[in-house]
Amino acid sequence: MSEQKPIPQHVAIIMDGNGRWAEQRGKERYEGHIAGVESVRRVLRRAAKWGVKYLTVYAFSTENWGRPAEEVNALMELFCKSVVNETPALIEEGVRLRVIGERSRFSQKVRHYLEEAERKTEEGHCITLVLALNYSSRDEIRRAVRHLAVRVAEGELQPEAITEETISRSLDTAFMPDPDLVIRTSGECRLSNFLLWQSSYAELWFPEVLWPDFTEEDFDRAIEVYRHRDRRFGLVK
Ligand code: IPE
Ligand code: IPE
Ligand code: MG
Repeated sequence: MSEQKPIPQHVAIIMDGNGRWAEQRGKERYEGHIAGVESVRRVLRRAAKWGVKYLTVYAFSTENWGRPAEEVNALMELFCKSVVNETPALIEEGVRLRVIGERSRFSQKVRHYLEEAERKTEEGHCITLVLALNYSSRDEIRRAVRHLAVRVAEGELQPEAITEETISRSLDTAFMPDPDLVIRTSGECRLSNFLLWQSSYAELWFPEVLWPDFTEEDFDRAIEVYRHRDRRFGLVK
């Protein structure tokens, strides 16, 4: 792990390809999601080793509710089981868990497990694992705009005082920096409503590998790819 160029502080991943991975093996789609949890474990450890401070993973989009009920239910069960089972290891390894996305649509049980895992891991200072659940960027922006509109209507905020910073601070991601690198697995080259505001200057990488097959070496490759990028932010050298 060479030191020459900065490593990303925040890596965000659109974990795609679980269903195709399962189908290729003649398995049910949910088995692909179970295998995907293993990849999260691997990548989280590798990211922490590199010194990445925030790892955001897109686990369930607002659009994913439209999938067959059987798959949605299996995913909800998997979220509960995974956060409960993983919490002791997260605490042990100094991982803080945070959830972004709109929670009111989840059952009481799912919300309870998520909140408990966040509370129990809040002291973690090695890396923050951010789960994007019932998340979509447009929905997040809609909620932020409503919140700001209420503050304006109540005379708490002047419209002229709304800056880009005000907006960033009103989003679910207010507690962390913007992603430096966004990875989407499975070869699809789209963002599917993920961190649209926050990714304005992120480097993007679209490897072909399906998420359950994503290894530590793939993560190392992502870091290398990132280090070879020339980030200009609209400026000239
Ligand atoms: C990503 O894998 C995980 C979720 C969206 C929950 P998919 O389930 O989208 O897998 P593919 O794209 O069908 O292969
Ligand atoms: C994006 O993947 C959402 C997650 C990874 C959770 P999808 O598989 O749902 O996105 P599309 O439908 O291919 O754009
Ligand atoms: Mg997909």
